[in-house]
Amino acid sequence: MELTVAITGASGTIYARRTLQLLAESGVVDTINLIMSGTAATVAQVELGVNLKDPNAAKLNAWLGLPSDSKLIRYWRLDNLAAKPSSGSHKQAGMIIVPCSMGTLGAIASGAGTNLIHRAADVCLKEGRKLLLVPRETPYNAIHLENMLRLSHAGARILPASPGFYHRPKTIDDLVEHLCFRILDQFDIPHSKKSQWTGEEVAQGE
Ligand SMILES: Cc1cc2nc3c(=O)[nH]c(=O)nc-3n(C[C@H](O)[C@H](O)[C@H](O)COP(=O)(O)O)c2cc1C
Repeated sequence: MELTVAITGASGTIYARRTLQLLAESGVVDTINLIMSGTAATVAQVELGVNLKDPNAAKLNAWLGLPSDSKLIRYWRLDNLAAKPSSGSHKQAGMIIVPCSMGTLGAIASGAGTNLIHRAADVCLKEGRKLLLVPRETPYNAIHLENMLRLSHAGARILPASPGFYHRPKTIDDLVEHLCFRILDQFDIPHSKKSQWTGEEVAQGE
């Protein structure tokens, strides 16, 4: 399977990192077209203390803990509108934008994108391929909400970065991973299944 993953400048670079690692571990994804916005690198520096400006394969593989010679990640520059994901004739399963800023979300919702992330998302919508957005902002204003509804009507799936607690997470990694499992579920990509609710009898209190 081939997928495009975009990282934008919303809070939550850690979601992107874990999603990419789980895609790598799944054994069913052989190519990930990776695109990053300029602000994504700023947020990565702030939140994880990592320098992802102008990354190359070696830097990205090291960040993700992949073998240095791994060919899984194919990095495309944001201004490269001739990149593979910018054409509908290039077949792939779809695209994940994690985390997705309100700026990127608005640009895609308007249909007037200016960079490779916007274009690749637009291509997924026009080709009827899966487009999964993991927006992060709080609170949402009416423009954010209307943009999300608009994108949902156009065929995108909105999976907000709002982790659940019903699996009783002990660590931040537990919280992050549970959300990333839900991302993989949208593409039927296998993982350890720890996110599946198996049903439980819960006694109702007085
Ligand atoms: C540390 C940091 C955290 C940010 N967090 C968010 C956020 O959670 N959601 C959001 O929509 N924008 C957030 N922003 C603002 C976006 O990065 C900004 O709107 C940017 O223009 C988005 O561009 P992009 O979509 O091309 O990445 C944050 C910026 C910084 C520097």
